[in-house]
Amino acid sequence: MSKLTAAITGVHGYLPDYILTNAELATIVDTNDEWITTRTGIKERRILKGEEMGTSKMVIPAIEGLLEKTGTKPEDVELIICATVTGDSIFPDTANTAAYHTGCVNAFGFDINAACSGFLYALSVGAKMVEGGTHKKVIVVGADKMSSIVDYTDRTTCVIFGDGAGAVLLEPNHDGLGVLDYEHRGDGSGEKYLYLVAGGSRKPATVDSVMAREHFVRQNGAPVFKAAVSGMTSMVGEVMGRNNLTAENLDWLVPHQANIRIIQAISRMADLPMEKVMVNIQKYGNTTAGTLPLCLWDYENQLKKGDNLVLTAFGGGFTWGALYLKWAYDGQA
Ligand code: UT7
Repeated sequence: MSKLTAAITGVHGYLPDYILTNAELATIVDTNDEWITTRTGIKERRILKGEEMGTSKMVIPAIEGLLEKTGTKPEDVELIICATVTGDSIFPDTANTAAYHTGCVNAFGFDINAACSGFLYALSVGAKMVEGGTHKKVIVVGADKMSSIVDYTDRTTCVIFGDGAGAVLLEPNHDGLGVLDYEHRGDGSGEKYLYLVAGGSRKPATVDSVMAREHFVRQNGAPVFKAAVSGMTSMVGEVMGRNNLTAENLDWLVPHQANIRIIQAISRMADLPMEKVMVNIQKYGNTTAGTLPLCLWDYENQLKKGDNLVLTAFGGGFTWGALYLKWAYDGQA
């Protein structure tokens, strides 16, 4: 019997019904399908519409679906970690709201704010709770309602982001499956390239901050692009190297979905064919903390027990990292 690890035993997601196409965006800002497709790879993204529809409205169905498909009783869940930068409110945390509404009455919960790396960080934290032997059922969620902080007058950001949520169940494993290694990094000097000006304690909301559109995402795309490629490539290389993973024995690279050109650059630099790289950016855009679990959900049917997966992400902060896991069950092809 090998040492106690935390295995993903199920994945589920939730995507809002509303599809915002490139064609519709071209009626809102000065853009076009050709630019968006060639510069980002995105064709459409989902948008959560309606009054008082916070991120929990996507997290709750993602968790409900996960409980149902894994045959898990809500009262057996001990912990929910929700990675998000668009929680329902600054506090309370969305994980607890979701626990309450899904009947996970014995779970405690907290949110992790690490932008696009949120799910990756949360997955390693959740895995440690299982590996420590204290928790047997941990749900890790990545979810963002980016449409709530995107400026639909700014063509440089509004074409990129979308809304969505994904959730995984972590359970103990003694067969060498599950999360086996990770490496995370952060660099606060990156805050000037991708950020919200106002709405936090440094600059609380005022009439002026609203009028100046300071509650929307601002990004200087080029330096973020460069740092994303080098950050993810180096973390993937490090995690692959020390786990003797090669282009042959790695089954899947699961990269954050921010830009198809970033994904292709990582695949090239890591010498991995694109057939081994999960890509769904064309359908959902960048859902921030949602991208990695939504990839796992989309590709679940193609995954086999024992597959070697490396997940990698890069986001605002800057935050970035990579995580190696062995998939624990056969998908239903
Ligand atoms: O997930 C968190 C981390 N975020 C990322 O990883 C994002 C990283 N950055 C990127 O993906 C890319 O930098 C963007 C997609 C944001 C931008 O692509 P780019 O190739 O870096 O474009 P650019 O900002 O250099 O702009 C090139 C041109 C500019 O026009 P001029 O100055 O050359 O005349 C922009 O004004 O493209 C113009 N442009 C657009 N044109 C049509 C920018 N956005 C658009 C647009 N439609 N939506």
